Formats: sequence, C-alpha cells, structure tokens
Amino acid sequence: MTSIIALFNQSGGVGKSTLTMNLGYSLMKKKKKVLLLDLDPQASLTTFMGIEPYDLEKTIYNTIIDEEDLPIHRQIHLMDLVPSNINLSGAEIELVSALMRELRLKEAIDPYLSKYDFILIDCPPSLGILSIISLVAATHLLVPIQCQFKAFQGTDLLLNTVARLRKSVNKNLAFAGFIPTMYDGRTAQESRTYEAIKEQLSPLATVFEPIPRSIAFADATEKRVPLAVYKPKHPAVKILNQISQQLIKL
Ligand SMILES: Nc1ncnc2c1ncn2[C@@H]1O[C@H](COP(=O)(O)OP(=O)(O)OP(=O)(O)O)[C@@H](O)[C@H]1O
Ligand SMILES: [Mg+2]
Repeated sequence: MTSIIALFNQSGGVGKSTLTMNLGYSLMKKKKKVLLLDLDPQASLTTFMGIEPYDLEKTIYNTIIDEEDLPIHRQIHLMDLVPSNINLSGAEIELVSALMRELRLKEAIDPYLSKYDFILIDCPPSLGILSIISLVAATHLLVPIQCQFKAFQGTDLLLNTVARLRKSVNKNLAFAGFIPTMYDGRTAQESRTYEAIKEQLSPLATVFEPIPRSIAFADATEKRVPLAVYKPKHPAVKILNQISQQLIKL
C-alpha cells in the first residue's frame, strides 16, 4: 500500500519543504518509488527541486481545479515531482463553491497509487483549503515542529484540526510522527521546549530525533540538491535516514 504522507504545520518556515525533499530522497535511496506533491503556492519545493515555477504551463492547480492528470516531472534526483506555482493561490477561492472539494486531491492521486511506494505532500503554512485537501488525501501526517515556545503553542490548533478531520472526512488519518527541526541544543530554551514536546506529544505519536539547525540545509537548497548529495557525511543525513526507515515501517 502507498503511504501518502502530508508534511503539515500551519506555522511558516519550520522546514516542511526542506524535509519533504530530503526525506523523499532518503526513501528513494532505500529503493522506494517516491512522488513529491507541492501544494504550496509559494512553490518552495518546486524551486528546491530545481524547477522554475513561473515558467510552468501545468501545475497541481490544473489537477485540482480542472481535474486534469497530474503534471508529473520525472526523475529529478530520481524522484518524481508535481510542481506548483502562484496560480495555486487562486484555488483557495475557486474551491469555496466546488462540489466535493475536500476530495479533489484524493481522487486525483488515486489512479497513481500503484506506481509509488510513497507520496509526500508539502502543505502550505495555513489551515486553509489547500491544507485540508492534503490532509484528506493523506494516510499519514508528519509534523515538523520548531523547538520554540511560540511554535509549540500552535500545536493545539493543529491537533484540533486533525481531530475534526478524523471525525468527518478522513477517519483513517494516522500520525507518522513529529520531527523537531532546526534544533540548537546549546540554547537552554530550545532544549527545554524539546523536552516539553517529547513529554506532551509522544503519547500521540513518535517524536523523532531532532534535525539540527545547520546552514548546510540552505546551502544545499541553493544548489538545488538534497543535503545527502551536497554533504553526504553531514550528521543530519543519518537522522533523515533513521526517520525514513521508520516511515517504511508505517
Ligand atoms: N535544519 C535546518 N537548519 C537550518 N536552516 C534550515 C533547516 N531546515 C530548513 N532550513 C531553512 O529554513 C528556511 C525555511 O525552510 P522551509 O522552506 O523548508 O520551511 P517551510 O516550513 O516549508 O516554510 P513555509 O511555511 O514558508 O512553507 C529555508 O531557508 C531553509 O533552507
Ligand atoms: Mg514550505
């Protein structure tokens, strides 16, 4: 069965897009067939994967709104990608009145399930309809979370949204886990928050080992490559591989 994993947190800049690309790459290295879906009008994932969003004729927008086939760009770092661009911001409004709108993404990816072991969805930083259709399409939810007090506070809102979806449109949505990101264990506040995250969230799902804060992530994306290609020996690569190993066991 295909694991469809939504990387979601309504907080901005927590590392969702970076993780989507790097976990996808790690899964690919473990011989899994991986499709990445960019559901964010900002198109960070599309850019990180080396595709210029503005030039694109077809994006995930055409699939969600016009019910066209997925415009798949094949074999970028040996992964497949469905890109996004700014047109997708219009979908938020256009979907307001659409029939069965919650199912738009789920139904669009159904025909592709036999081709992939993993579909990773990079959600936008909002609780709007694009995140909702992603969470309805997903089998699992993976939550990147920063070890800062403000970020931690936002998890209540996130958990409420998930609870609502589980009661209505996606009863089977499961947690794949929480990934503390951009972690700097030398600062007292971050290590305190990390302890609090473990204590409060581990009853719900796995809290993975933190991804360290490192400029190498930004350097790798600037070069449009996964960290494991840019710096194979970087300590975060080992952590990414451990997380992807757990994802395979879902
Ligand atoms: N572990 C890390 N250490 C340091 N910087 C990181 C790390 N992970 C990601 N970054 C950088 O932080 C910035 C935000 O990352 P990213 O775009 O992946 O977050 P996001 O959650 O997808 O953001 P948005 O909410 O805007 O979609 C990027 O510049 C990225 O290179
Ligand atoms: Mg992003």
